[in-house]
Amino acid sequence: MSEFEQIPLARPEIGTREEELVLEVLRSGRLSLGPMGERFERDFAAWLGVEDAVAVSSGTAALHLGVRALGWEPGDEVLTSPFSFVASANCLLYEGARPVFCDVDPETLDLDPAAVEAALGERSVGLLPVHIFGYPAAMPELEAIAAANGLGLLEDACEALGAVDAEGRRVGTRGNLATFAFYANKQLTTGEGGMVVPPSPELASRLRSERNQGRAADMGWLDHGGLGFNYRLSDLAAALGVAQLARLDRMLERRIAVADLYARGLAGIDGVEAPPAGRGAERRSWFVYPVHLPDGVDRDATIARLGERGVAAKAYLPCIHLFPHLREQGWREGQFPVAEAASARSLALPFFPAMSEAHVERVCEALAESLR
Ligand SMILES: Cc1ncc(COP(=O)(O)O)c(C=O)c1O
Repeated sequence: MSEFEQIPLARPEIGTREEELVLEVLRSGRLSLGPMGERFERDFAAWLGVEDAVAVSSGTAALHLGVRALGWEPGDEVLTSPFSFVASANCLLYEGARPVFCDVDPETLDLDPAAVEAALGERSVGLLPVHIFGYPAAMPELEAIAAANGLGLLEDACEALGAVDAEGRRVGTRGNLATFAFYANKQLTTGEGGMVVPPSPELASRLRSERNQGRAADMGWLDHGGLGFNYRLSDLAAALGVAQLARLDRMLERRIAVADLYARGLAGIDGVEAPPAGRGAERRSWFVYPVHLPDGVDRDATIARLGERGVAAKAYLPCIHLFPHLREQGWREGQFPVAEAASARSLALPFFPAMSEAHVERVCEALAESLR
């Protein structure tokens, strides 16, 4: 990418290894349920440091199977974050469970354990924390609340591959059901794809069956032991995943380097707040780069001015509870002041591993000019 081209919000790193492995799958004739899919699961589990991992067609599919695995049903209430991508609430609605939103911590923008405790009710069956923007949620506190109240726990780690929590553990390795996503803007991409980390071998078998129309490993073709879905990941996508895993450490390091460049570049712009890298032992896995604009700044106008200067930017994120299908359940403005304030002020800037110092400088200059 030349320094004078439009700078996109995100851009995947795809190299010759991805091309080679995709070609290998094409030539093998095993385009689904083949050895590449198994290899991706094995390599992913080894990289993360868990026993097993189950590949699926998207992060949303991973969350949906997670909700089913935890047995959340109509009438059940699950406490979750309003400051997230809509899939983390939709996955509950698919099974008739009700998302009960709780406000977030102003600094980390993850679920605030005190707000969770305050929102517990008779129908609460679980917690669904989201490691938003790659910042690890307060898992020790949330696990304590879950244990004290007999709640299930499903971690939405779709934006957080590689993040490390306050106890020094990689997100997704605490023994809870955890989900990851591999859309093209993620730390690791398969184009579309997702992964579930199962807490037990029994659940792993169930997930593998449900992603494949309820067919168990020991069952024949067209034989089905229960309700299932087509949430399979193709071996072409898995080939991308295998190649991406081999470069993941390097890509994560590049993301840290680009975030450092931004932190320095933005320091000279009055009133713009960079996201926290970590506040204790936590380590963010840099996913997007959301800055907070100064109070009173017109964000849409800023986005338009950045666009005129060849820099893509986006309002990030709208609060989930204010989408029409959740308003129908009674959610309204003003219920979650921290999430709503963050949502009103945050803006995602271009962020991807191949960004050079010159790109970051161009973005920072364009932002400074757009705020004048
Ligand atoms: C927090 C969060 N949850 C869930 C998802 C859903 O993943 P997918 O788009 O792969 O279905 C995403 C991805 O965009 C996400 O950011």
